[in-house]
Amino acid sequence: MTVPLLKIGAVLSTMAMVTNWMSQTLPSLVGLNGTTISRGGTSEKIVSALYPSPEEGWQIYSSAQDADGKCICTVVAPAQNMCNRDPRSKQLRQLMEQVQNISQSMEVLDLRTYRDLQYVRNMEALMKVVDGKLKTASENPRSLNPKSFQELKDKVTQLLPLLPVLEQYKADARMIVRLKEEVRNLSLVLMAIQEEMGAYDYEELRQRVLLLETRLQSCMQKLGCGKLTGVSNPITIRASGSRFGSWMTDTMIPSSDNRVWSMDGYYKGRRVLEYHTLSDFVKGQNFVQHLLPHPWAGTGHVVYNGSLYYNKYQSNIIIKYHFRSRSVLVQRSLGGAGYNNTFPYSWGGSSDIDLMADESGLWAVYTTIPNAGNIVISRLEPQTLEVLQSWDTGFPKRSAGEAFMICGTLYVTNSHLAGAKIYFAYYTNSSSYEYTDIPFHNQYSHISMLDYNPRERVLYTWNNGHQVLYNITLFHVINSSGD
Ligand SMILES: *[C@@H]1O[C@H](CO)[C@@H](O)[C@H](O)[C@H]1NC(C)=O
Ligand SMILES: *[C@@H]1O[C@H](CO)[C@@H](O)[C@H](O)[C@H]1NC(C)=O
Ligand SMILES: *[C@@H]1O[C@H](CO)[C@@H](O)[C@H](O)[C@H]1NC(C)=O
Ligand SMILES: *[C@@H]1O[C@H](CO)[C@@H](O)[C@H](O)[C@H]1NC(C)=O
Ligand SMILES: *[C@@H]1O[C@H](CO)[C@@H](O)[C@H](O)[C@H]1NC(C)=O
Ligand SMILES: *[C@@H]1O[C@H](CO)[C@@H](O)[C@H](O)[C@H]1NC(C)=O
Ligand SMILES: *[C@@H]1O[C@H](CO)[C@@H](O)[C@H](O)[C@H]1NC(C)=O
Ligand SMILES: *[C@@H]1O[C@H](CO)[C@@H](O)[C@H](O)[C@H]1NC(C)=O
Repeated sequence: MTVPLLKIGAVLSTMAMVTNWMSQTLPSLVGLNGTTISRGGTSEKIVSALYPSPEEGWQIYSSAQDADGKCICTVVAPAQNMCNRDPRSKQLRQLMEQVQNISQSMEVLDLRTYRDLQYVRNMEALMKVVDGKLKTASENPRSLNPKSFQELKDKVTQLLPLLPVLEQYKADARMIVRLKEEVRNLSLVLMAIQEEMGAYDYEELRQRVLLLETRLQSCMQKLGCGKLTGVSNPITIRASGSRFGSWMTDTMIPSSDNRVWSMDGYYKGRRVLEYHTLSDFVKGQNFVQHLLPHPWAGTGHVVYNGSLYYNKYQSNIIIKYHFRSRSVLVQRSLGGAGYNNTFPYSWGGSSDIDLMADESGLWAVYTTIPNAGNIVISRLEPQTLEVLQSWDTGFPKRSAGEAFMICGTLYVTNSHLAGAKIYFAYYTNSSSYEYTDIPFHNQYSHISMLDYNPRERVLYTWNNGHQVLYNITLFHVINSSGD
């Protein structure tokens, strides 16, 4: 940001001669008529002009006349391509970054919609089949007995509420396409401006970016959340480490950060491996190591916004460890929370305190003696680790295989072994629960970690020394009685 001052003394005399010319003719040539700046105390008139010089990039000549009629001249030549002095370039860089961020979020959104559309398309196909059968039946009533006819009718009735949902999906998909186009347009505008730093209404540009961001946010919120209806087949990413452990990526949107962290074991561990990308993790290469200042307990760790949140060994203290500065930013006891394998999940392993993040922020899942060992959910403040609000789910923690949070809803599995299913859901938005029956394939029969990543919308699991991913399907519940 430093700007070289060029031989002021040497140019002074020359400058004195051209001052007159400069202060009258030059400004009008470069469109700076009437530019006056008054400095405190003196009554100088400063005329500034900009013009390019082939070797120097641009030069700024300032000429000032004080009360005695003396000239003060300065020649300033910023380094080429370094327009840092210009506050507009800073604004521009910020805008570019914002657009970049929006683009990244669009990609995530696009992927989500794409997956959801697949699901919707399947449902559509199913509807068509049922509909076709119904038509055949009504054209040829004798082909159908009353019982199967009634069954078909029931099926169709069940499917009917899907219609408005389907419509909504299509509308949402169209909205995403439009948003994408707008982002692309805006990037082009920004790129053009960067090339030629001409006059431009930055305020207007900023407003456009803000508007885009707001719309993206509402679109994400609408599309991003829903009720879990299905879990895909697992994909094994890697076989590494011991039987118990945890692995993850950062859970906060937006981020272009693809780092993968792996923490082997549930007991006294302090070594966190940080891989640069998922493919590095798969190959077991290109990693750095973090040695935590305090050992961990369990496998309920989470990486949220560049920090690792974990439960300190033999305590109910939660630690926030910042990767970049390699330091503990804050630690705080989770009031009353059981620890030291008092209230673990069904597999044991000191999994008393399970930290997780979803679309709505950071959560701790644990229990206390006053809650009689039933799962408590607490929303945590990410900077201070204070508990913002808590819910008692009434579900015994020791009977839970694992638990994860999606869109403010806690989903609990009934076992860590083969045959496990997602079988209980607690809605923090309405403080209510329901039993669910969502099967998933527990390929290696021993799950010691299961967490949702809202950025990628996948489930991360550590299954008997294998690192496994599942896609999920969320169904957006749309109030169809409204319109
Ligand atoms: C600048 O001012 C001069 C004299 O006041 C005038 O003749 C000239 O047209 C102006 N130039 C511009 C570009 O406004
Ligand atoms: C873009 O996203 C990054 C990472 O989340 C964040 O640090 C940065 O402040 C964002 N930039 C703008 C301009 O919003
Ligand atoms: C993007 O730019 C193209 C060409 O300038 C224009 O036709 C289109 O309407 C713009 N789209 C949006 C969403 O602004
Ligand atoms: C609570 O969240 C669930 C899941 O996202 C949703 O299905 C339900 O409609 C929400 N209830 C209320 C009262 O908002
Ligand atoms: C994420 O971290 C950055 C600094 O690293 C901070 O400015 C920002 O507020 C954090 N965001 C959230 C949601 O915690
Ligand atoms: C934790 O449990 C172990 C084994 O059960 C016991 O030896 C130890 O004293 C306990 N530590 C604390 C702090 O409760
Ligand atoms: C999830 O879905 C995406 C897009 O369809 C696919 O590329 C990816 O392999 C899937 N991952 C899993 C774990 O099924
Ligand atoms: C759906 O919307 C209607 C009218 O907008 C409202 O009366 C009704 O309570 C809503 N139902 C649910 C389940 O939110």
